[in-house]
Amino acid sequence: MLKIAVCVSGGGTNLQAIIDSIASGTITNTRIVRVISNKAGAYALERAAAAGIDAVAVTRADHPDKADFNAALLKAVDEAAPDLVVLAGFLVVLDAGFIRKYKGRIINIHPSLIPSFCGDGFYGLKVHEAALARGVKVTGATVHFVDEGTDTGPIIMQKAVNVEEGDTPEVLQKRVMEQAEWKILPAVIDGIANNRIKYGSV
Ligand code: GRF
Repeated sequence: MLKIAVCVSGGGTNLQAIIDSIASGTITNTRIVRVISNKAGAYALERAAAAGIDAVAVTRADHPDKADFNAALLKAVDEAAPDLVVLAGFLVVLDAGFIRKYKGRIINIHPSLIPSFCGDGFYGLKVHEAALARGVKVTGATVHFVDEGTDTGPIIMQKAVNVEEGDTPEVLQKRVMEQAEWKILPAVIDGIANNRIKYGSV
């Protein structure tokens, strides 16, 4: 049974996709052991509560400095003893100590086809604003292993999504979520849980 800890910052639609996929059997052999949010009011925490999943908020404001916050974040994950850490709309850059400790066992969903529109400053709606500004006809989402960089780890799975005439960033974001993010993140988790996907061979 793959134990996963899911880190969130906002609406938690990717978390919900994981919850629903486990319930429907799209993801097998997996249990969410904890949800960790860096925002106390994140709706993702409501989603966890509704699903009866242990959930904690570790917020920067509750800690005197970044080092203390990072230590608390790592402690909140360690306590759950996960096999895999899933960053699902998580907007905190993990510190080197965290990544070292969980190397090869952290995945992230990014709302573009990496290496386009990724790296520092590219998150949430900003990604789709950049894609529309560039005039790309196809965008999508990427699940990758997390390394010390920002959106630079080994790519695991990607799914393309068409950009339509007149798209706004909000409309495009929703299409990328519905057609790509909410499909490939569960698919990758199921692949890891059933030994079809392994770090080092993607
Ligand atoms: C989504 O665009 C996701 O790709 C990005 O954060 C946004 C919110 O995700 N990483 P969620 O609804 O909180 O899962």
